[in-house]
Amino acid sequence: MAPELANRPVAHVNLDAIQRNLDLARRLAPRSKVMAVVKSNAYGHGVISVCNAILGVDAFAVARVNEGLELREAGIELPVYVLQGFLDTTELDACRISRLVPMLHSPFQVECLKASRHRDMAVWIKIDTGMHRLGFSPEDFRLGMTGGERLNVVGVMSHLANADQPDHPENAAQIEIFNDLTRDLDCELSIANSGGILNLPDSHFDWIRPGIMLYGGSPSGVTDPMLSPAMSLTAPILAINSVTKGDSIGYGSSWYAKRDTRVAVIGIGYADGYPRERANDTPVLVGGERRYIVGRTSMDMMFVEIEQDDAVSPGDSVTLWGDGLSIDDVGSAVGTIGYTLVSRLTPRVRRDFVRDAH
Ligand SMILES: Cc1ncc(COP(=O)(O)O)c(C=O)c1O
Repeated sequence: MAPELANRPVAHVNLDAIQRNLDLARRLAPRSKVMAVVKSNAYGHGVISVCNAILGVDAFAVARVNEGLELREAGIELPVYVLQGFLDTTELDACRISRLVPMLHSPFQVECLKASRHRDMAVWIKIDTGMHRLGFSPEDFRLGMTGGERLNVVGVMSHLANADQPDHPENAAQIEIFNDLTRDLDCELSIANSGGILNLPDSHFDWIRPGIMLYGGSPSGVTDPMLSPAMSLTAPILAINSVTKGDSIGYGSSWYAKRDTRVAVIGIGYADGYPRERANDTPVLVGGERRYIVGRTSMDMMFVEIEQDDAVSPGDSVTLWGDGLSIDDVGSAVGTIGYTLVSRLTPRVRRDFVRDAH
């Protein structure tokens, strides 16, 4: 086996934390089945290892057909739902062959399926109850534009636009529309994402679809103590430079030292998925202490101002988020949310899978 080389950022993914978050989702929605949302490489956590760690779920959900095929190629046999359905007949055939369940959101998909040899395959219908992204309008749904008796519709779902804000009036409105449209149907129903699972019991229905909460991220961007963050991101210190008051560092000389100080050069950059935009003043943990990013983040490196007495040397690890540093704090410092930070990590970042220390 190739040696694990030191100069590489590492996402330490605690699979027990993901199981704990799943257990929490089940406790909150005890009557619902769980469709674990593992799209986008399990939100950056490493999809195959994550799926294999939580095979007790009832199904997995991915956004695209190619993501579903990846699960099948890895030998995952549980039901897999494709949230965006198929886009053409090649994708439809692939769903059939690989037993992926597409969620149909448009008349185009219904026509494509009706015209195919796969009319009997199980599908779900997605309705737009107010988010106006994907889904049949309530009118089209009532008018039977979803294929009616001629298709094998086993479930109906929708997606909440504001579940991260429990008091948002749109939540109740969406759930009411969903209830009205589905009341007399004899099929599976689903509308709850993480925000719905955590905040809106009326949204639980037959299936819940937890995404970010499985990974310990909070949908609202405010750290939720009930959740166990699954990922800790670290990167090595490459060099420690003494900088004189007035010196600038990095591209564009965007930061000038206000005092004689020390700057650690860290081996992670935007090509690893660390945000370049607004990274200045974002916290990181150096030797367990909060220190802050200075200057412009480059492709493979960035800078952190450290104190004269910080006892660190090249090769030591710095924590970008995770253990001791909430990803939500990092997200709000760079003007984003935990979802984007984890899901943008590139394959350059090694994923190390760990379990709780016992
Ligand atoms: C249709 C659908 N369901 C469920 C989820 C999971 O959402 P969350 O990560 O907020 O739990 C997503 C994610 O965007 C989604 O698109």
